Amino acid sequence: MAQTARKTRNNIASEDAMAVSLAASPDDPVFCFSATALRARLAVFHAGFPGRVSYAVKANPSTEVLSTLSGAGLRHWDVASVHEMAAVQAIQPGAVFHYHNPVKSRREIFTAFHRFGCRRFAVDAREEIEKIAAIVGTASGVELAVRFVLPRAQGLSAHDFSTKFGAPEAAAAGLVAMIARLGLTPVLTFHPGSQSRDPAVYVRHIEAARRIVDAAATPVKTLNVGGGFPASYPLSRPASISQFFEAIDTATTRCFGDIGRPLLECEPGRGLVASSMSLLTSIKLVCSDGDDVFLNDGIYGGLMEFMQVPELQPPHRAIRNGATLTGPVKQWKVFGPTCDPLDVLPVKLDLPLDLREGDYIEFGTLGAYGLATATRFNGYGCHAVVPVETVFTGA
Ligand SMILES: Cc1ncc(COP(=O)(O)O)c(C=O)c1O
Repeated sequence: MAQTARKTRNNIASEDAMAVSLAASPDDPVFCFSATALRARLAVFHAGFPGRVSYAVKANPSTEVLSTLSGAGLRHWDVASVHEMAAVQAIQPGAVFHYHNPVKSRREIFTAFHRFGCRRFAVDAREEIEKIAAIVGTASGVELAVRFVLPRAQGLSAHDFSTKFGAPEAAAAGLVAMIARLGLTPVLTFHPGSQSRDPAVYVRHIEAARRIVDAAATPVKTLNVGGGFPASYPLSRPASISQFFEAIDTATTRCFGDIGRPLLECEPGRGLVASSMSLLTSIKLVCSDGDDVFLNDGIYGGLMEFMQVPELQPPHRAIRNGATLTGPVKQWKVFGPTCDPLDVLPVKLDLPLDLREGDYIEFGTLGAYGLATATRFNGYGCHAVVPVETVFTGA
């Protein structure tokens, strides 16, 4: 027989703000955002990363996140599109853009260069270099960042990034030499895969960067080590971020000490913003005879990444009347709000036995690729962003 779940008030500081948003739009899920948490995380990067810190806008392009980072002094932005440039520039005129999507149309390159003053573009193919050189000219002071890729080393990151972009080592050396011949400035960049599990993944790439420089016989003044820095999830608790910084610093000195260390850059998305947002969903229907529960958000909304990479399962808790429910739990099959039968979470969740319609389920660590990837499928996926002081992370 189902026992009644206990309720505990434990630091649901977001209660008032949530109440306001839910009153305005009670059927929609909301993202709870802590600017304090984001500023603190940026400070960790600024204090610990041995180089320049930029932000991968794609992880979370919300006005709230961009304004907070801008207010905290961030000046460099890794952007995937001219639309992201426009969003950042509206908040920070004079922002410095790194257009690190390796594939861009001619019109996009033109707009980035002339309208947004972009002077850094990523490339991984000769044809892309030719396109950019033709548009910007060779005396433009433009930097071209050659994105290189290594064969995937099993287990070093949760989300493999080696299959779409990146030139293999030998080809990358040819691209670096070509850029220098054209009179443009070569930079090297890589992405080790999102949610790196082990600092060794950066070390492998820094060693490869040195081999590329030698093979190209061309000095490279800047090495961008990408994103990939981890956040903490229940099924993925990697080394501390300071161990990543230390490993990058040590490897750079070891690999480049004899010819001069390049300026290091990083462009975190997940590792910077994930822990500053949670997603508050509500229960529309509980089928108590079985184990089915239906939420007002799902894999087509803020929980898409959970579907794509189950290791990134966010922490969760159930809330009733502003208090966390504790006590006996069972496994529930959790559906989203759309009519698509695929709209179900990839694993059952432990939730209170006496779950009820109207209870809330809050998912933590959803600041990265939650809001950013939500769709409006079936008319759902409309999320307000609500400011809170302390945000749920499951810690
Ligand atoms: C070029 C580039 N930089 C940075 C990032 C951010 O990666 P992460 O969220 O793993 O830090 C991405 C993610 O797609 C990317 O494509």
